[in-house]
Amino acid sequence: MILAIVGAGTIGLSWTTLMLAEGHTVRVTDPRPDLEQAVHDAVREFAPTVPGFTGTAAELLSRLEIVGSVEQAVDGVHAVQENGPERLEFKQDLFAAIEKAAPANALILSSTSGLTPSSMSAKMADPGRLVVGHPFNPPHLLPLVEVVGADEAEVARAKEFYHSLGKVPVVVHKEIRGHVANRLQRVLFEECVNLVEQGVVSIPELDDIVTNSIGVRWATVGPFLAFHLGGGPGGLRHMMAHLMPYIPEDVQARLADQVEAVYPLADNDKRAEKRDRQQLEIISFKERDNDVR
Ligand SMILES: NC(=O)c1ccc[n+]([C@@H]2O[C@H](COP(=O)([O-])OP(=O)(O)OC[C@H]3O[C@@H](n4cnc5c(N)ncnc54)[C@H](O)[C@@H]3O)[C@@H](O)[C@H]2O)c1
Repeated sequence: MILAIVGAGTIGLSWTTLMLAEGHTVRVTDPRPDLEQAVHDAVREFAPTVPGFTGTAAELLSRLEIVGSVEQAVDGVHAVQENGPERLEFKQDLFAAIEKAAPANALILSSTSGLTPSSMSAKMADPGRLVVGHPFNPPHLLPLVEVVGADEAEVARAKEFYHSLGKVPVVVHKEIRGHVANRLQRVLFEECVNLVEQGVVSIPELDDIVTNSIGVRWATVGPFLAFHLGGGPGGLRHMMAHLMPYIPEDVQARLADQVEAVYPLADNDKRAEKRDRQQLEIISFKERDNDVR
């Protein structure tokens, strides 16, 4: 495929490397004066940390095209990944320009961390064409891409596209500022700041607490499955009834029904074994790989 990267800062350079490593031709545009050097440096630095990539940076750079305008970048492409500054007016004008210059069937994707697709597409003739594909930094390494948009068919095409790049795309069904992962990070980090400011723990102590508990656990099971497995034979239903009086009873019942539908209680032993195998791997890898704090 021929893919366009519009905006080659932190995120755009990382996407460029991943897309090149996946075998695509990547056309990059950004007004930064050091663009060519920045892309070459980034591809050399990031390529070794693209999961599964065993080729050379030189091979990747042979499929790179640096161009001087958005119009040139998106001409004839299959997909455009936008990674410009996080300013609403800027993105509104940019997407109107991209829509005019890109092929009618090209995917138009935005990396925005916080803005909603409906706000960014305000100046487009067909707002449904814009889909947010929000990566978790750095996109060449971490699997998640949050996918959200107004048109179901475009969202499905975007999901398929990210899947083809080896990512784990997750559709966010309602647009919401900050999407999901960053909203979770924000809540947790606010409490981290609060605890350090109150003198409850120091910064390295707080980091040790997270990386030796929920960090290991959440790399293997998400918050819902973690509590479902931690609740004994009664699963999350039991856990909420006994330890989470702050969740209203009707909400508890709805959540427990959903959790038991996707994670039937009968298989929880196998899930717990898998969680533990993976946790052991993570813990022992961290013990071996501990040269820098
Ligand atoms: N940094 C993160 O952790 C992160 C994570 C996920 C998503 N994002 C999102 O990705 C986007 C880019 O963030 P970033 O951190 O890479 O920012 P950045 O400031 O590093 O990069 C933005 C780039 O856009 C370029 N630019 C400015 N005007 C342009 C134009 N007219 N055409 C093309 N390029 C132009 C700038 O020169 C710059 O290189 C934002 O929307 C941000 O919310 C950031």
